[in-house]
This record gives sequence, C-alpha cells and structure tokens, in this order.
Amino acid sequence: MGWHLFDTREQQAATLADVIAERLQQEINERGFASWAVSGGSTPAPLFRVMQTRPLPWQQVKIALVDERWVDSEHSRSNEAFVRTELCQGLAAAASLTGMKTPHADPYAAEAMVNERYQPLQPFSSVLLGMGADGHTASLFPEAEGLEAAFDSTQQKTCVALTARRSEVTGAEVQRMSLTARAIGAARQIVLMITGAEKRAVLEQAIQEHSGLPVTRLMEQAAIDIYWAP
Ligand code: 6PG
Repeated sequence: MGWHLFDTREQQAATLADVIAERLQQEINERGFASWAVSGGSTPAPLFRVMQTRPLPWQQVKIALVDERWVDSEHSRSNEAFVRTELCQGLAAAASLTGMKTPHADPYAAEAMVNERYQPLQPFSSVLLGMGADGHTASLFPEAEGLEAAFDSTQQKTCVALTARRSEVTGAEVQRMSLTARAIGAARQIVLMITGAEKRAVLEQAIQEHSGLPVTRLMEQAAIDIYWAP
C-alpha cells in the first residue's frame, strides 16, 4: 500500500491516467488485450475525461465495472450509463464495455450470468476503486447482506450480489452487483482514487485502527495504491 498525494484534482487525474495507460499498454503487449474495471460515483469523471484522449489501441481494451446498482442501464444512477457517457467517448469509444446489469429482477438471480460474462476478463489488468465516507469500496458496504460471500476467498466467484443497508451513501439503490475481494485482489494493478479531507481522514483512521471496514479489509489482502487530492 502506498499513498500518492496531489495538490489538485487535475494533477491527480493526469498522473493516474499515465499510470493506468502504461499498465493497459503493457498488458496489450503481453496478452493481446487489457481489461480495466472501473468504479462509478462522481470521483473518476476527471480521470475518464483525460483517458479518452490517450492514444491507446482502445479496440484491444475491455472496460468493465467494479460494481453496479440494480437499475436499468439507462437510469440516471446506473454506473454503466455513467461510464458510457464519461469514459467511452473520444478515442476510448473504440473500447468494449461489459456491464453487469441483466434483465433479471434482482442481482441474486443474475449472479451466474454476470460471473460468466466477467470470467474471461480475469485477471483484470487494472482496477479503479472509489471509496465512500462510510468505508465502502466497490459495493462492499459495511454490514451488507452478502458481504461475507464477497470476502470468501474459498469461492472462485468474480462477482457477487449484495444488499446494502440503506443510507445517504447508497440512496434508494441498495441492491448491487460487485466484484468480489478475490477478483479485485487478483488484478495486476489496483488503484483507489479518493478526494477531499473527509475521505482521507476516514481512511487514515481506519488503517490505523484496523477498523475492519470493507476498504481496509480489502487492503489487508490486496496491494492497493491510494491516489488522493483535496
Ligand atoms: C458506486 C461506486 C462506489 C463509489 C463510491 C464513491 O457505484 O457507488 O462504484 O464504490 O466509488 O461510492 O462515490 P463518489 O465518488 O461519488 O464519492
């Protein structure tokens, strides 16, 4: 684990774009394609805008989601919609995007199908995580139903369905699909992109106190680089 601190969000986005683009290019050279799992939320938008302009062989990049809210892919709270509008534009329009949403009524019924979709992308070349001030990352929310399954390393699952406890952070969309801790941990590069004093304080305290919050639990089993800007 390492901290990378920036003075501005522009510098954070530019550096992250360099680091991620380099990893994707290396993976393309080595295995003919790169898979990049990205988070929703609001934080990654500036990074996505920089990435769209990077001259990568984007047709060899498979973009996937770290997590999804169980809403239609046209919904304003859909991570797939967010990634399509904010990332899959410009040069990056040539990349493929594999979403997590299926027509199933709930994420539990969809788990097998989503695992089948996501298996061929393994191991991810790069995973971009975000974090909430409640200590969740991906859709690994504290006290969520399904959290233990998401951290169960004896299972080979890539994706798992969860139901979060409703909070300001979750909004109405408590039913989620998320990458498992195992799938995230197996990635060749894992970056956590966070902004603001509050999230930094939450994370520093959680690390110090071995709080058992999902984000620090994940850090105990995966090498994660933290990129922070005010
Ligand atoms: C989601 C995300 C989630 C996100 C954090 C931070 O779908 O909610 O993927 O894990 O990264 O909630 O969100 P903000 O960037 O909006 O603070």
